[in-house]
Amino acid sequence: MRTRVLRADVQDGCAVINDAVNLLVAGEVVAFPTETVYGLGCNALDNKAVEKVFAAKGRPSDNPLIVHIAHFAQIKPLVREIPDIAIKLAEKFWPGPLTLVLLSSGAAAKGVTAGLDTIAIRMPAHPVALEIISKSDLPIAAPSANRSGRPSPTDAVHVLSDMDGRIPLIIDAGKTNIGLESTVLDLTREIPVILRPGGVTAEMLKQVLGEVLIDESVLNAFDFGGSVASPGMKHTHYAPQAEMIVVCGEMLNVVPKIRQMAKGFSNVGKRVGILATSETASQYPEDYCVLTPGSRLAPQIYASNLFASLREFDVLGVDVILAEGLSTQNEGLAIMNRMLKAAGFNVVNAD
Ligand code: TXA
Ligand code: MG
Repeated sequence: MRTRVLRADVQDGCAVINDAVNLLVAGEVVAFPTETVYGLGCNALDNKAVEKVFAAKGRPSDNPLIVHIAHFAQIKPLVREIPDIAIKLAEKFWPGPLTLVLLSSGAAAKGVTAGLDTIAIRMPAHPVALEIISKSDLPIAAPSANRSGRPSPTDAVHVLSDMDGRIPLIIDAGKTNIGLESTVLDLTREIPVILRPGGVTAEMLKQVLGEVLIDESVLNAFDFGGSVASPGMKHTHYAPQAEMIVVCGEMLNVVPKIRQMAKGFSNVGKRVGILATSETASQYPEDYCVLTPGSRLAPQIYASNLFASLREFDVLGVDVILAEGLSTQNEGLAIMNRMLKAAGFNVVNAD
């Protein structure tokens, strides 16, 4: 299959959107930008289309998809009931990086919910995504547009590198804004639970909900034996080709610890990558591959560049990545969750 890439903001925007809509309505798969990461979209009501998404990603069939909507009314046929709190959260955070897990009506294609009795729904805050969903007049199921096991794509070139020849069309609108996937919030429990932290932070949710729990898998090691609330949690994600170690602790201790570890790896012939911050990058010798997604003082910018840095380490061919741990406050929780997942929860404490 030939994969076309069309720029939504440079070429005739309307024609590009129509191409995407026509393919989606015909049961095909189209990659498009959202404010978080690029998604691999299909008609959420069409079993065959959903199967194509799983095949293109190489995704295990027990990991359900998020359904994307453009208007609140599109939620109704998909769920058994709309709790008041869902309306309140949608008013405050939609369109935006918040996915709500609700009781499913069973209307979506089977693969979307992967056999669960719940369904994950969000309204993305990207004009191209909203226009595609709105014009297709369909709920659009869309996982992140990476091959399984690769970091989520934050730019169309990442999508092309993972999906070339596997899907007919990629809509390119440049780099995504947030760069980490949406917050997944389970509203089917007595107290709402954050299953995956993202751009809508725990602190922001607490202001609306009063109380919100954070699933223990967010920062702790995977428990492959136990049951998991979100099937995505038990699949390793975003694993770079190199071994990755997150070094946690006070910044003053982390830098010397990473220098010491880097020297050890280097001495046995390993190519070392360091994931630094703009405050610390200059403190590492130049013979290491030092990448700097951003500053400790601007976690939103750091988040937007993290996945591109992980892909860059793959291109550079490093053997080991030593990453500085960050604070888990606000956006930091989502950053640390993705870093720990990429590292398979391989953590060293520098303090
Ligand atoms: O920002 C995002 O959420 C991006 C963009 C494209 O919207 N999408 C995304 O989709 O990250 P995906 O498929 O890569 O991640 C969806 C996550 C998975 O961890 C999955 O297990 C969880 O949401 N999920 C989906 N349906 C669920 C459900 N019914 N209950 C619990 N977790 C669910
Ligand atoms: Mg994903």
